[in-house]
Amino acid sequence: MIDILCVRGYDSERMKIQLGTKPLSEIKDGYLVLPIFEENAEDYGQAIVKTFLNENLKFGKLFETQVLYSANSKILLIGAGKKEKFEFITMQNLAGAAVRALLKKSKSLSFVLPKQVELSESDRTYAAAMGVEIAAFDPTKDFKIKHEPAMLTNVEFLVDRAERGIQEGLKKGQIMAESINLTRKLGDLPANIMTPTYFLDIAKKIAKENKLKITILDEKQAKKKGMGAFVGVAQGSEEPSFMIALEYIGDIKSKEKWAFVGKGITFDTGGLSIKPSSSMHEMKYDMCGAAAAMSAISVVSKLNLKANVVAIMAVTENFPGGKAQRPGDIVKTYSGKYAEILDTDAEGRLVLIDAVSYAQKDFKVKKIIDLATLTGAIIVSLGDYITGVFGNDKEFSAKFIEVAEKYGDKMWEMPMHEEFEEMIKSDIGDITNLGHGGSHRSSAGSTTGAKFIEAGIEGDTKWIHLDIAGTAWDMKPKPYRGAVGDWSWS
Ligand code: BES
Ligand code: ZN
Ligand code: MN
Repeated sequence: MIDILCVRGYDSERMKIQLGTKPLSEIKDGYLVLPIFEENAEDYGQAIVKTFLNENLKFGKLFETQVLYSANSKILLIGAGKKEKFEFITMQNLAGAAVRALLKKSKSLSFVLPKQVELSESDRTYAAAMGVEIAAFDPTKDFKIKHEPAMLTNVEFLVDRAERGIQEGLKKGQIMAESINLTRKLGDLPANIMTPTYFLDIAKKIAKENKLKITILDEKQAKKKGMGAFVGVAQGSEEPSFMIALEYIGDIKSKEKWAFVGKGITFDTGGLSIKPSSSMHEMKYDMCGAAAAMSAISVVSKLNLKANVVAIMAVTENFPGGKAQRPGDIVKTYSGKYAEILDTDAEGRLVLIDAVSYAQKDFKVKKIIDLATLTGAIIVSLGDYITGVFGNDKEFSAKFIEVAEKYGDKMWEMPMHEEFEEMIKSDIGDITNLGHGGSHRSSAGSTTGAKFIEAGIEGDTKWIHLDIAGTAWDMKPKPYRGAVGDWSWS
């Protein structure tokens, strides 16, 4: 088993980020990084910078870089784009791009946090710290003998005053990035390492580290409880499967409780409705929803948020073993409804319908956000960079989307009209896991998946389902973020 502590950005290997208030002329070690907006209005008082910008009036496009050397300093100019377009995510990615530009060139850098932008000082350090750690995470380092390690270990943010709010922003950014990098790491790990048992080991570590209560149901216990849909998926694999719950109580006085529910298919072969082999390898990331739910609750705990949260992860492989469920099988879900299996590859909604029931029945949760790499159809609808949002409460979804977008997560609300409910009605059971009755085999494929999960939502529970099949997988390196490579040949 790979020691999870080897995750870059996780504990020991985290980049050292400090705040500095020295004048720029005193930066002698490493690179001085100066953000330049397209308007070119900056005056950092360095002759060499002035000369360069006078000769290159158009410099400043986002992430564009230029190295300048003078007798006693090394400078990296980095384009910050248009000032009016500068948002939280721009700050984050700008810091990331500076780190990636120098990752293998220098031991340290001093970064001037851009002023005169519409971000509070603490949000600026928050975003920048997050960008630094995300950029420093190297997803290619584990399984290559020939691997050039990073040189950069020290990052300094140059600010006017190292106030408390700024310090707190820095810490928050590091905590967020640590969990983001952990999620990336878990998603990248191949399925021969990232088995349900391995996932459980990590969940136990996270529980211990954050003092979270952990409850584990193995297949037998899940069956006894009545989670027929989850067990139906799990039974085809030789690997043991688990329904895992992590609990955080940060507001004893309140009865309100949230759930993050995650799809944790550590490998999705499709089961007996087996997938074509061409891109089956991608299905190692079918546990990203569960990884995100787990990381999210660790952040909630590290930030001591005043809230009560449970994270529920339905973790199993989807395999076509001798005991595998068959198309045509009927299972009784934990909600009580009978589900007819028409396609064993539509397994995400099966494990999730039981997981959302578990959240409501056993943890008395009234607000649920589930995350799942649920459908290929969402990639057809929204592409690779936008998450599909489905929900049963317009206001709840709207608020969620607003907050997500503030931090640069692109979201789009998908329709959930009751007309779609016809499409998951079963002839012999209550619901079926394959949408039907549309004019095309895959009509509204993402919504019918969401509707199936919604069938497990009771009473006035508010619920959001995020289909992250498009957004969880990104093999293309960015100026601000490393990736495993460009596999677009497949
Ligand atoms: N894990 C897949 C969804 C997926 C497909 C994610 C491609 C990323 C890329 C999911 O379990 C699945 O197989 N969904 C089927 C549903 C269908 C059988 C109704 C799909 O999208 O084809
Ligand atoms: Zn799947
Ligand atoms: Mn599937």
